Amino acid sequence: YNVHNYTFILKETNFTRLCFTKPMLTVNASFPGPTIQVNKGDKAFINVQNNGKYGVTIHWHGVKQPLNPWSDGPENITQCPIQPGKNFTYEVIFSDEEGTLWWHAHSDWSRATVHGPIVILPQQGGKGYPFPKPYAEQTLVLASWFNTDVKELIDDAMAIGGDPAVSDAFTINGWPGALYNCSNETIYRLQVVHGKTYLLRLVNAIMNEEMFFAIAGHNFTVVAQDGAYIKPIPTSYIMITPGQTMDILLTANQTPSYYYIAARPFFDSGAPFDNTTTTAILQYTNVTAPTNISLPTLPIQTDHASADNFTSKIKALANNDHPISVPQNVTKHVLITVSVNQLPCELTNGTCGGPNGNRISASLNNISFATPTTDILQAYYRSLPDVFDSDFPNQPPLFFNFSGVNSSTYLLPEVGTKVLLIEYGASVELVYQGTNVGNPENHPMHLHGYSFYVVGSAYGNWNATTSPATYNLNDPPLVNTIGVPKNGWTAIRFVANNPGVWFMHCHLERHASWGMDTVIVVKNGPSKGTRIQRPPSNLPICA
Ligand code: C2O
Ligand code: CU
Repeated sequence: YNVHNYTFILKETNFTRLCFTKPMLTVNASFPGPTIQVNKGDKAFINVQNNGKYGVTIHWHGVKQPLNPWSDGPENITQCPIQPGKNFTYEVIFSDEEGTLWWHAHSDWSRATVHGPIVILPQQGGKGYPFPKPYAEQTLVLASWFNTDVKELIDDAMAIGGDPAVSDAFTINGWPGALYNCSNETIYRLQVVHGKTYLLRLVNAIMNEEMFFAIAGHNFTVVAQDGAYIKPIPTSYIMITPGQTMDILLTANQTPSYYYIAARPFFDSGAPFDNTTTTAILQYTNVTAPTNISLPTLPIQTDHASADNFTSKIKALANNDHPISVPQNVTKHVLITVSVNQLPCELTNGTCGGPNGNRISASLNNISFATPTTDILQAYYRSLPDVFDSDFPNQPPLFFNFSGVNSSTYLLPEVGTKVLLIEYGASVELVYQGTNVGNPENHPMHLHGYSFYVVGSAYGNWNATTSPATYNLNDPPLVNTIGVPKNGWTAIRFVANNPGVWFMHCHLERHASWGMDTVIVVKNGPSKGTRIQRPPSNLPICA
């Protein structure tokens, strides 16, 4: 394999969008940040120098980092932050991932501006893509733009317990596009040659919204998700949830002209915000700009039938060159309820800005995660007491009721830093059960350190007798982030063969901030090659 070296300089840089100029934290002064490109099985050393104002960490989303949780990144889970003026070199170990992943800051809300793509090409000297080699490739990063400082925004919201302000725009490769006010700045342009096929590597780096995405006049084919190939899906639109990545083949086979590429939110819950459609331009070479550029037809924002219809088509490629191994027998089963809740105001000083004068919170199995002030991985590795508890429950409290539509009763979760301990080598099934507590909506659940097979999903309550009968154990998709349907469930499986301390959380950033997180600790195995490697010598110092 090859070893790659990158330098990431974190610093505040002025950016202007929607006629607002603000200093914001960036890597190497770019938004989105630089692309990391490797071949399957390579390694990258990424030296992160923090020249910003606050401590920061970086996470390599979807990279499993076998035996190396030290470089995974979530703040106070696997490391303490890199303080201003300091640096840390991440050792990013690629294993079986192939396709597109991404990297992002994993401290408060800094990922809004600190993120970029990871392109993993097929292994050198191997068989190449499982589809004809495209003429060219391009990354497309969907992101959120806030006119105000994101750190102040989330700090203020958490201080009063209310809902943080929504973003002011969505962007494609950094630009909101022509449909926003005061956006006559640059729009991202994808230049294509008629008759050629392009591989578009799409990243949803948006903070809080699932997105529909389409290209005017063109159908395309989805060929990979979350760094694993899928059976090709010809389609006119996709739904992509925060944290996910999708690889798309687009053939420029229409009348040479200009066409809009567009994305806008999918809001199953009917949440009262929009902010709204981001665009880029698909531009055939050697044509003059038309007076009207056509927009694609996107499903309407509450169209969950279209969202589900696309999602249900995703199946692993599962052929001889890209085999899968789905655990058939489960040795560790955990049922996890996913809820947005409220907490009594006593926990805050001052006004509570949430509904009913409470503060908003969120929970898994009715436990609202409290991020510790020092990191769990070091505490676990060195057996330091009082940082976390190991009693995350294997099932929710009995009083949960998943049925019904909108409950007016908000359950009060317990606040704690509880981790789920798993034996090395266990065949794990996690069932996420969406609840009707709070505002029911989809939750894109993400697990660090693993990809997992999505073996089943449906509306209603998961049922131990009837639900497993509906599972797909032949070609379930292998992903790192999955949208759990509102008032429904999703079952995932994986073999716990990567020891470490692995964060698991909703990838809607406001839910993660409210406590929709936990940590899975997979114990060391019996032999060399099944144990966590030694900590790097330059690990950031904890306060
Ligand atoms: Cu993409 Cu823990 O995150
Ligand atoms: Cu969520």
